[in-house]
Amino acid sequence: MPGKPLIHASSGSLPEFCDISPERVSMQPFTMVIFGGSGDLSKRKLLPTLYHLCKEDSLPEEYSVIGFASSERTDEEYRELIKKAVQEFGDGQFDIKCWERFSRHLHYISGKFDDENSYKILSGHLEKISKSVKKGPLDVIYYMAVPPAHLRDIFNNLSSCDTCREKYNTRVIVEKPFGRDRSSATELNRMIAKVFEDDRVYRIDHYLGKETVQNILFFRFANSIFEPLWNRRYIDHVQITVAESLGIENRGRFYEKAGVVRDIVQNHMLQLLALVAMEPPIGFEADFIRNEKVKVYDTIRPMDAEYIDSFTVRGQYGNGTINNREVPGFREEKDIPSGSITPTFFAAKLFIDNWRWAGVPFYLRTGKRLAKRVTEISIHFRQPPLKLFSSTCGIREPNLLVLGIQPREKISLHIGVKHPGVGNQLYPVNMNFSYEEDMPGNTHFALPYERLLLDCMKGDRTLFARQDGIEAMWSVVDPIISRWENTPALHFPNYPAGTWGPKEADDIIGRDGRQWRTW
Ligand code: BG6
Repeated sequence: MPGKPLIHASSGSLPEFCDISPERVSMQPFTMVIFGGSGDLSKRKLLPTLYHLCKEDSLPEEYSVIGFASSERTDEEYRELIKKAVQEFGDGQFDIKCWERFSRHLHYISGKFDDENSYKILSGHLEKISKSVKKGPLDVIYYMAVPPAHLRDIFNNLSSCDTCREKYNTRVIVEKPFGRDRSSATELNRMIAKVFEDDRVYRIDHYLGKETVQNILFFRFANSIFEPLWNRRYIDHVQITVAESLGIENRGRFYEKAGVVRDIVQNHMLQLLALVAMEPPIGFEADFIRNEKVKVYDTIRPMDAEYIDSFTVRGQYGNGTINNREVPGFREEKDIPSGSITPTFFAAKLFIDNWRWAGVPFYLRTGKRLAKRVTEISIHFRQPPLKLFSSTCGIREPNLLVLGIQPREKISLHIGVKHPGVGNQLYPVNMNFSYEEDMPGNTHFALPYERLLLDCMKGDRTLFARQDGIEAMWSVVDPIISRWENTPALHFPNYPAGTWGPKEADDIIGRDGRQWRTW
């Protein structure tokens, strides 16, 4: 038997007999009911993604998408609305033939979330669809694309509408934010549990659908050379940055109540942290991976008021310039009160008190309206025990491993080599892997929602959060949120848009003789 050829990253072609063609799993006919089917999330992400999946031939022959929202409109009017959304927010290649094929599957129910009658209408629709499918049984997916305040009404009505849940193979997708704190998340979980078994619940975090985020586990556990170094003996510290140059767009009302910790830290950031810090799962299955993540959250050092005041930093952006464009400060954004004290920036130093990570600081920072859009994890290795070589090139850390999540999906190992010549100069170079350059033509980056919707249709929960995981993440951030809310910031805004955040963020890492990565 011939050995498997290696992929030569630089050759750009994949080896002949390495079959990595996308998995085609035959799916059941399904109906997706989108509560909030004409809202922002539906228009920007969900419907353009479903259209894209149809274009890629990834959907089964028989499926329906039902938008459920309060405005009065006909199926035709709904299709027109969604057509515009797909043209504006889709993949940029609108194809009228595909659209016509897709739009035939789109329907609309004008209903009120708290009105029993609307659910009877929905039952009627499902009944009709189910009778017409040739290859039963029908999978029904309820997508909660609504603000959290509507969830109680929807779940209550679904619970008393038996045909909505018992007759079919049902699943429910719940969007973040999942609660406002641990106790409301527990309450929400209890409410959902009255209607759906936990294995029917898909708690979505779109970061987990990103190709490069999934790659973290592959990188760590499919390559035996890194894992032996992945601990306190070799790693000096870890940095995680989720920097956005965008502001709050049109989401002032939501953001004013949420703030950066609920919006990004409790979910996206802690997911990244868990993937970097977790122990190897005993298998690549949803529950094995989720078990390990929860252990990470449970071992993050608890933060009391004194710790929070010393090792976390909050900020709010004022006006400034990004890409040569003047942008308003947070307090001047639509729906934001002029005296708002909502934080848009977060930085912190955390410790994970377990055998692997004892004493290794994890520095986290995220914010809106920062200088650049960058999501990156960097692993900073310790200095060699003896300094044999000198450098005039300013190498501080010869070994640094960078996992670039976005906008450039890459992995880069920084090493020191001898500079050619008579001297003994150490010189920094990088060993790079980039999806774009090393697998040209082979990198179809599934949009996060594309992957996650398909997984839910197939019943694969690996990339979705589990109830205890969500609650454990809230336990990490709850003390920070309440400390910040109980001691309002007096100095906001404290960083101009287009910068890297308040000066105090540099201090929490600078005091330890380290510095943030810069780009
Ligand atoms: C969302 C947040 O979950 O993630 C937004 O609510 C944020 O505020 C967005 O802008 C960032 O996602 P991405 O994929 O652009 O990094």
